[in-house]
Amino acid sequence: MAKTNIHLLNGPNLNLLGSREPKIYGTTSLEEIENSCQQWAARNGVALTFRQTNSEGTLIEHIHMADAQANALIINPAAYSHSSVALFDALSAVSLPKIELHLSNPHTREAFRHRSYASPAVNGIICGFGPDGYILALTAALGLTGA
Ligand code: DQA
Repeated sequence: MAKTNIHLLNGPNLNLLGSREPKIYGTTSLEEIENSCQQWAARNGVALTFRQTNSEGTLIEHIHMADAQANALIINPAAYSHSSVALFDALSAVSLPKIELHLSNPHTREAFRHRSYASPAVNGIICGFGPDGYILALTAALGLTGA
């Protein structure tokens, strides 16, 4: 039987995790987060594709690729959550189980972060748990695949 395949996409500025606003995002780098996600995937027999881009168009392409290749999609769209109709349209076009993920809790922050264009197009949202949210999202995504 083919392995369950999960794509985990990261949007702009998340490559700076570790040094970026540590009071909000902590000191764990994206590479360290990816390592723990890959360890989780190995333990659970899941094939994990982990990506980051600073470009809106590339993020949309990555969503399209997930639709063709994955059994579930997790996305931290970062600032594009709050600005991108293209993100909403791309996620709406994908029929996979989808989870929106944020390290911080945007609802406790500036008003412009309270609205997410991703939220109406996903199955569920995980936010406010820092890097642990990535593992929570993987666990939830695997559950949604029914594997
Ligand atoms: C973020 C929250 C967004 O509001 C922000 O623009 C980010 C990161 C998070 O993971 O907490 O870049 O998605």
